[in-house]
Amino acid sequence: MLSPQLVHGPKSVEFEDNFAHFLGENVYATSVSSCTAGLHLTYLHLGLGPGDEVVLPAQTHVATAHTIEVTGARPVFVDCDTTGNIDQQEALSAINHRTKAVCVVHYPGLPVDTQPLRKETQARGIPLIEDCALALGGKVGDVACGLLGDISCFSFYPIKHITTGEGGMVVSTSESVIQSIASLKAFGYDRALGDRQTPGVYDVQELGLNYRMSEISAAIGVVQLQRLNGFLEQREKNTQALRMSLDGRAGFSLLPPGDGANTHANYCVIAVLDEKVSGSRNAVITALRHQGIGTSVYYPVPIPLSKYYRDRYDYREDQFPNAARISRSSVALPVGPHLGEDDMQILAEHFVRVVGEVHG
Ligand SMILES: Cc1ncc(COP(=O)(O)O)c(C=O)c1O
Repeated sequence: MLSPQLVHGPKSVEFEDNFAHFLGENVYATSVSSCTAGLHLTYLHLGLGPGDEVVLPAQTHVATAHTIEVTGARPVFVDCDTTGNIDQQEALSAINHRTKAVCVVHYPGLPVDTQPLRKETQARGIPLIEDCALALGGKVGDVACGLLGDISCFSFYPIKHITTGEGGMVVSTSESVIQSIASLKAFGYDRALGDRQTPGVYDVQELGLNYRMSEISAAIGVVQLQRLNGFLEQREKNTQALRMSLDGRAGFSLLPPGDGANTHANYCVIAVLDEKVSGSRNAVITALRHQGIGTSVYYPVPIPLSKYYRDRYDYREDQFPNAARISRSSVALPVGPHLGEDDMQILAEHFVRVVGEVHG
């Protein structure tokens, strides 16, 4: 990296251009400091405030909700269906005159075919936001996750499909949306560093924050992106190997893979334990950990049932039966490209054995 510039320099632009090109034609992207920053900027750009609502899935990371809540708008949670993705019929029913956006999450890399929601949001002139934190590489038909709505946000946190340490990207097919978000991520300055005739002299045109990605992170992103296709291929091989080894085994079921119509981003494979064993979910995770096998939970509580949102909005578990079951009973099994198909064999054997032991 030969540039002396550490922020707002050529590496960010290169990363943004390459990322946009990876997703498709006529796509615009602006790099940000995290997916959370990208979502927050998206809602600032939309001008959300008190009295507004955004419809989103209960089965997600807290960032999907907090970035709405922090604007003063109200996150309106709906349950997922049995795939783990937002129940689109419920989402459609939750839209009303206060709704200023709808957000979908491709969980855990299974693309949401957004057509029903898109038809309704377009008819009402409401933007459809995609939280693509787990979805880089996913597609519906030939259309990449990130281009299935109006504005999308990606995450480059270390365990994601590519990483920049912390980092994210906001994407849209609207150049003006990305220009607006690029201004908001840099204090609302009226001109970027390179556009200033007199160094240090600028005006502030709007209320913005500092959510920029550094050139150091962007340089890592450029190289990571070159490796992305290889990463995705290994994720696909690992997923297939793991699914084959786990197929038909007792005590759990797997959330669905991609099919002919869509490409799963293979963030992880989620096993949902049967009711009989689900009470021992944490014991399963601990036993695997003792064997040196790292797993995780996506996500440990439906967000409306987390303490903050329950206290604030009084949500009840019976409003989110699918999300509650997945949160309570699931184990996320790793398929990242640091692992190979042999590792999948070992992972499957241990998982089946441990579940069998608690199954009795
Ligand atoms: C669905 C989802 N959205 C947003 C985020 C936040 O991403 P970041 O850590 O880049 O802010 C995460 C983090 O895992 C996530 O899973």
